[in-house]
Order: sequence, then structure tokens, then C-alpha cells
Amino acid sequence: MCSLQELRVMVYHGGKVERAALGIGAGTLGERCGRWRCLGREVAMDAACAGGAEPIRDELLDKLVTEVRTGMAPNKPTADIRKIGFIGLGIMGKPMAKNLLKAGYTLVVNDLNRDAVGALEEAGAASAGSAREVAAQTDMVITMLPNSPEVKEVMLGDDGVLAGAKPGQVVVDMSSIAPLVSRELAKTAAERDVYLLDAPVSGGEPKAIDGTLAIMVGGDEEAFRAVEGILGKMGASVVLVGEPGSGNTTKLANQVIVALNIAGMSEAMVLARKAGVDPQKVYEAIRGGLAGSTVLDAKMPKVLDGDFKPGFRIELHIKDLMNALETGHELGSPTLLTSQVCEYMQMLKAEDKGADDHGGLIQFFEKLAGTEVRHMDRHTDW
Ligand SMILES: NC(=O)c1ccc[n+]([C@@H]2O[C@H](COP(=O)([O-])OP(=O)(O)OC[C@H]3O[C@@H](n4cnc5c(N)ncnc54)[C@H](O)[C@@H]3O)[C@@H](O)[C@H]2O)c1
Repeated sequence: MCSLQELRVMVYHGGKVERAALGIGAGTLGERCGRWRCLGREVAMDAACAGGAEPIRDELLDKLVTEVRTGMAPNKPTADIRKIGFIGLGIMGKPMAKNLLKAGYTLVVNDLNRDAVGALEEAGAASAGSAREVAAQTDMVITMLPNSPEVKEVMLGDDGVLAGAKPGQVVVDMSSIAPLVSRELAKTAAERDVYLLDAPVSGGEPKAIDGTLAIMVGGDEEAFRAVEGILGKMGASVVLVGEPGSGNTTKLANQVIVALNIAGMSEAMVLARKAGVDPQKVYEAIRGGLAGSTVLDAKMPKVLDGDFKPGFRIELHIKDLMNALETGHELGSPTLLTSQVCEYMQMLKAEDKGADDHGGLIQFFEKLAGTEVRHMDRHTDW
């Protein structure tokens, strides 16, 4: 059986190519392609076998291409993975890549930021000059990029992942992007016999460092099984949610819940502070009750310290909420609260606070009320 990266069909006559065609598709030549034989990277048939003595006309050539495409079995996902490509070494990608190195995998990395690449090289990774080279040199590729446009460019560009990927290779996009884009990319990848999973994460930088992220995956189950153990080196939970795009749909739900939680926490803590109660004490009193949450425990100590260093930047959270609004509008699902909180974040961005941690959303409420939620010995009233 021969494995093809692209569908290139040749019909030979007397030892010479009579007609040739390119089609969309890749895979292993299946048993239903009995008339065809493999010649290097293409499949070939003798003209006598295809159309008798008549010259091969366009319609017949089209039929032959279809015959091969439908007879090709997709390659199984590559499961023997030792060398991993990692593209996007920002706040999240850098510690995630380091955890794969610690787990004993060989890494080939790429990022536009030379310093980020240098940090991974120091930790033991090799680097490559383009996403195409990363894919060509590795058994599996992971991407951790800001948003849909960057992921599209890195996947589909002339020097992109799909240009270098091999049949059966699994590509895992762990960025938070629009579910519709994930679905389209998975379809394009499948046409080239590459398995693309969307696997966004929740947990932020601390959990990326600890390797305890929550990872939500959409895509082919067999490809998921092939890489589940590797994802487990970066996350405490790895769940296959459903078809391509559903990892990112789950992430949108996650981001709506987190944003609304931070907004609720902010409004309540500003109220308590305005009433003259120590917000540290309020936090201690409620964190064990029904209002307690992972968000409260992650964000309140930083708010009290006035520490808005990201973490997760407000501008990235705006991006997620915009994706949620777009998806909600498309599906006719109400996004009333999401749209309000998105506007609050936009206002902070307009005040040059887009690079603050999303816990900094409280500054919007603080400004309206004219107070600050800080340790009582450190607060200043506006
Ligand atoms: N930071 C968090 O707390 C957090 C938490 C969960 C999910 N996320 C999501 O994870 C993704 C990454 O977030 P982050 O905080 O690490 O972002 P970041 O901006 O810190 O990192 C993105 C990295 O991608 C690189 N990059 C951009 N375009 C590139 C290209 N064309 N080729 C190669 N590299 C390129 C940038 O140079 C940068 O190093 C985002 O989708 C974000 O929404 C972030």
C-alpha cells in the first residue's frame, strides 16, 4: 500500500504520461484502487486499463480522480510520538512547552519572538525557522497562539504547518479561537490527511506552570487517543467534548462564566468597601460558602495587593467574549450579560489597561464608586 500526501493521478500510454491530474485528498491507497499502482508520490494507471484505445477525455479523467479519492483510506493518526513541534511560546505556551521537555519529549519550537525561542533553547529545545519546518521535523505539532487570524496564518500559510505536515500527523491547536474557524481548519487538514484537534485550556499561567490545566478537546476520537497522554503532561484534566470546534465552544462557555464571575466579585467587593467593611475580611468570611469559587480565590488576593500584572490579559478576554457574542448571535442564543461585561472591559482597554490581568476589571467598578478594594492599610479613596 502506498501513502500519499496529495492526490496526483497519472494515466500512462506506451510508457509516457498521457494525462495527469491533481485532486484534493491524501491517504493510503485502499483495496478498491486495485487498477492503480504507486509510482513514488503518485498513483498511475495504464491508459488501456482506463479507457481502452480512446484518448482520455476530461470527463473520464475526473472520474478516475474520484475513483482514487473514494478508494483511498485515510492514514491512521500517528501514535508513536517522540518529537513534538511547539509554536507560540507566550505566557501560556512557554511553560507548557517546558513541561513537555521535563516529561522527556524532544521539542522543536517556533515563535515570532526571538527571546521566547531563546528561553526554550536554553531549556533544551531545538528551533526551526518556520511552522512548515516545525511540522516536517516532528511527529506531532502543538500551537498556542493569540486568536483565529494567527492560527489560520500558521496553519494555512505557504510556510505553514499543513505545508510541512505528513499524512496521519496530529496537530493540536490549544489557542482559544472561534469554534467555526476550528471546524474549517479541521476540514482543510483532513483533506490533506492530517488530524487537527482544537484543545483550548483553562487555568491561566499558574496552572500552565504546574501542568494542571483543564484541557477541552474537539475532534477525531482516534487522534485524541493518540495524543491524550501527551496533553496529560500539561493538564490535570483532558476531556474529549465532541466533534471539531466543540473544544472551543466549551472554552467560550468557560470564558463567559469566568468574566461574569469577576464582574460579580468586583461589584460586590466595591459595595462592601464603600460600606466601610474590610474587603480582606469579606473575602475570608465568604470564600468557604456558596459565593466561594476558583475565580474568587485566584483573583481576590491579587486585587487586594493591587497586582494587575497578567496572567490573562483583558484584551485577550475581550477577544473571547467577542467570539462568544458572535457565536450567540449566529445561533440566536442570548448573550445579554456577556455583552455588558465585554463593554466594561472595552472601556478599560480604551484607558490603556488592555494589558492588565482580567482581574483588573474591578478597576471599572472602583472608578464608578470612587474607591479601591485593597488591604485596608494600603487603600486610597479616589
Ligand atoms: N494567558 C492566560 O492566562 C490564558 C489562559 C487560558 C487560555 N489562554 C489562551 O491561550 C492563547 C495564548 O495566550 P497567551 O497568554 O500565551 O498569549 P501571548 O500573547 O502571551 O502568546 C502568544 C505567542 O504567540 C506568538 N505568535 C503570534 N503570532 C505568531 C506567528 N504567526 N508565528 C509564531 N508565533 C506567533 C507571539 O509571539 C507570542 O509569543 C490565547 O488564545 C489565549 O486566549 C490564555
